[in-house]
Amino acid sequence: MLLLATFACAAQMPTSAPKEYPAGELGKLVKTGEDIVNNTDTHPLTKDLVGNKLQCKSCHLKGADGKVGTGEGISSWIGTAATFPAWSKREKTVQSLQDRSNNCFMRSMNGKRPIIDTKASMAIAAYITWLSTGVPMNMNAIGPWSEHNTKLYPKNVKKFNAIQKKATHKNYLAGKDVYTKKCASCHGMNGAGIPGAFPPLWGKDANGNWLSYNTGAGMSKLDKAAAWVQSNMPLAQGGSLSDQDAADVVIYMNAQERAPFDLKKGLLPKEEMGYYNSIVLEEKHTVQSNFKALGLDFNTIKNGK
Ligand code: HEC
Ligand code: HEC
Repeated sequence: MLLLATFACAAQMPTSAPKEYPAGELGKLVKTGEDIVNNTDTHPLTKDLVGNKLQCKSCHLKGADGKVGTGEGISSWIGTAATFPAWSKREKTVQSLQDRSNNCFMRSMNGKRPIIDTKASMAIAAYITWLSTGVPMNMNAIGPWSEHNTKLYPKNVKKFNAIQKKATHKNYLAGKDVYTKKCASCHGMNGAGIPGAFPPLWGKDANGNWLSYNTGAGMSKLDKAAAWVQSNMPLAQGGSLSDQDAADVVIYMNAQERAPFDLKKGLLPKEEMGYYNSIVLEEKHTVQSNFKALGLDFNTIKNGK
């Protein structure tokens, strides 16, 4: 009996993408979505909506099957579609999967929010929904995350919030040390990464264009980024950093230069955008304000004065 129950549970949560694409036009749309999440900044349907050199796959990592979003750490997309509609504290509304994905364009992708039900928006939702094939519906009243991420994300964010609140300039220096030893080989000492191989973490290119996520992204928040980094980095060695090292390396990473966030600039003009499902219509963040959110003074942490 017990064995059967365990098996039934395991059978409900897949660990990889389905073997087959859906038939017909739906299958084609899922493949378009897969192409977009792999090539977000260059795909014809999304390139004009992206303001950096990232792709969705930069943070929604590939698993053993090579599919974007099947990696086992925090930010897996397996089971995500089954938890929507879901409550979002940030938007103060119940969100659809398209809402959730499209908002990433304004923040993680430093660009503009796609219009709901346009081809790009539908295609991304179709791909992410395909990854939940066979997972029972289970709408989330706590946050816009899959069951898997709900188990890992909020509790680790809380853990890192408590650790990082106590940070001083010493933690910034310790973070730089971790970065030099464990991150710079791929992401570069200047944070610019290597085009086509390793994504950028901060800064601008030679033409003055921003390279990575802006200060409104989940990744720009110290506690959230530490939870993600500990779970997923260094690549293929997720779970190897101690709590203090993950906390410190993120203090270093998120103290570098990145685009300021102004929600109004991420929304298309009203006549184009259609309905925006949020009651929060003004939101601004900077590198400094993201430190202040944890009660930390940016200058003291970065410069020791
Ligand atoms: C800079 C990193 C980054 C990039 C790039 C990024 N995301 Fe995310 N995304 C996150 C983080 C961090 C979370 C929150 C962690 C979580 O929910 O597990 C998240 C959560 C999500 C979720 C909810 C997943 C869940 O079940 O919890 C969806 C859907 C999503 N992102 C879609 C997208 C799409 C679509 C793109 C590309 C257009 C994208 N993201 C690009 C970092 C990123
Ligand atoms: C072996 C190379 C490698 C190492 C070492 C490494 N990363 Fe990454 N990192 C990657 C790759 C590759 C991705 C994106 C995955 C993809 O595109 O498939 C990534 C993605 C990221 C992202 C999200 C995308 C972005 O550009 O913002 C962050 C943040 C990040 N890494 C931080 C770190 C930190 C902090 C360390 C050190 C603790 C680290 N990485 C070590 C290869 C590496």
